[in-house]
Amino acid sequence: MKKKILALVMTVAILVPTALIGCGSKTETADIVIIGAGGAGLSAAVQAKQDGLENVVLLEKMPMVGGNTNRATGGLNAAETPQQKAKNIEDSVEVMIEDTMKGGYEKNNPELVKKLANEAKDSVKWLTDLGADLSDVGKMAGATNYRTHRPTGGAAVGAHLVDTLKIAAEKENVDLRLWNDAKEIVLDKEGNVSGIKVTNKDGKEYTIKTKAVVLTAGGFSANQEMVVKNNPELKGFATTNHNGATGDGIILGEKAGASLVDMVEIQTHPTVVPEKAVMVTEAVRGNGAILINKDSKRFTSELLTRDVVSKAILEQKDGVAYLFFDDGLRKSLKATEEYFNMGLVTEADTVEELAEKLSLDKATMAETVKKYNDAVVAKNDSEFKRDDLPRQLNEGKVYAILVTPAVHHTMGGLKINTNAEVLNTENNVIPGLFAAGEVTGGVHGGNRLGGNALADIVTFGRTAGKNATEFVK
Ligand code: FAD
Ligand code: FUM
Repeated sequence: MKKKILALVMTVAILVPTALIGCGSKTETADIVIIGAGGAGLSAAVQAKQDGLENVVLLEKMPMVGGNTNRATGGLNAAETPQQKAKNIEDSVEVMIEDTMKGGYEKNNPELVKKLANEAKDSVKWLTDLGADLSDVGKMAGATNYRTHRPTGGAAVGAHLVDTLKIAAEKENVDLRLWNDAKEIVLDKEGNVSGIKVTNKDGKEYTIKTKAVVLTAGGFSANQEMVVKNNPELKGFATTNHNGATGDGIILGEKAGASLVDMVEIQTHPTVVPEKAVMVTEAVRGNGAILINKDSKRFTSELLTRDVVSKAILEQKDGVAYLFFDDGLRKSLKATEEYFNMGLVTEADTVEELAEKLSLDKATMAETVKKYNDAVVAKNDSEFKRDDLPRQLNEGKVYAILVTPAVHHTMGGLKINTNAEVLNTENNVIPGLFAAGEVTGGVHGGNRLGGNALADIVTFGRTAGKNATEFVK
């Protein structure tokens, strides 16, 4: 018996260390570790390298970089840019601040908004210096002026920005690790950041010792449970987001002592294709498209903020509407081609033929479109007071896409100051913890304006990279 016990003890003594080694439980060090390789994380990483940091680790849990930034379509907001000047667009930082605060129902942190509006033009310059094309300038809902920057011809902005930033990160030798999932922020006894625990592609855990962690892990629109916990009315809604938008950064930050703000503020995007969850960019409405319900009538100004237009669509028959446009609009916005390629568009040679295909009333639909075109000529939408009437919808073929609202953006998240430092529940900085992008709260208040997220992630991503670098230096 004694022999058997001894043999068992010896077996355990041999197996336990082997199992630990087998887990790949090892420790390494880095100057800073950035969690999440979307637009904010890539911006932070490139900025930190530009500011002279050696060892910048960028962790990404998915098999590719880009996160939701890859999906961004309509553009990036900035005021007082050379691109606006080239098109004789008058705009100002002050008006961008006013629009953003008004759009967010004044719930935004005004200091963060001031920084956003003041520095968005620098973000545009930084991106164009890295090779981005942001020369087309359009309008999104809730903006007084044309300030939404995107590639020539109105092509989708997100994948282009991710490509630009990824190339810059590669040139700067950022240590980018795909399939690496950040699991825990480690603090020392004094509450300073001292490391991060990570699970790699093979499921093995390892630790990176570092004095600074930047959280750029995005929002939580793809985490149904977290969405419904914060806003039960959104139960059953689809989402426009990528699968990785599960709020990990918020959970990690909160466990490390961070304060959360505005968690209940969750935005739906009004024009998303039912069942397929493909978002049709707001830029389509910005460039002149109208919304028509199943009674073949317009029912709102298409350029009101997302919360208002979403609510208006949900009040229509079956909670859906048709986005209606023509060849003139299609030519003005390259981003629309994707919807044709995906087979989402019903097309016809005349409004009446389109109505027939959609089982709508021909005469009413024709009257609706005529009334709108007359309003464009008169520069006065007496029915719905739409503030911008860029073009008549009477050129070439006509098109319709069926749409309904879906969960799109989470405005709440980690509380930060203008240095992108994360604050704890006593409003003090957690030393070594920084955050930027959709993982944070406070910039957009109760409702984000279209185009303001990209301005946010690049502006605050760079700030986080810069200040984390100064902190460790
Ligand atoms: P993301 O780009 O989502 O990146 C976060 C990254 O962190 C992801 O890659 C994720 O996988 C990774 N990650 C998460 N958890 C972990 C973890 N534990 N460990 C490691 N990595 C992790 N905004 C605009 O201003 N203009 C637009 O035109 C626009 N269009 C949009 C269109 C769509 C369809 C969507 C969904 C959003 C759009 N937005 C737009 C909003 C905007 O794209 C996002 O708010 C923004 O890109 C978020 O950037 P981010 O860097 O904070 O997060
Ligand atoms: O409609 C869009 O292109 C989305 C813009 C945004 O979320 O800012």
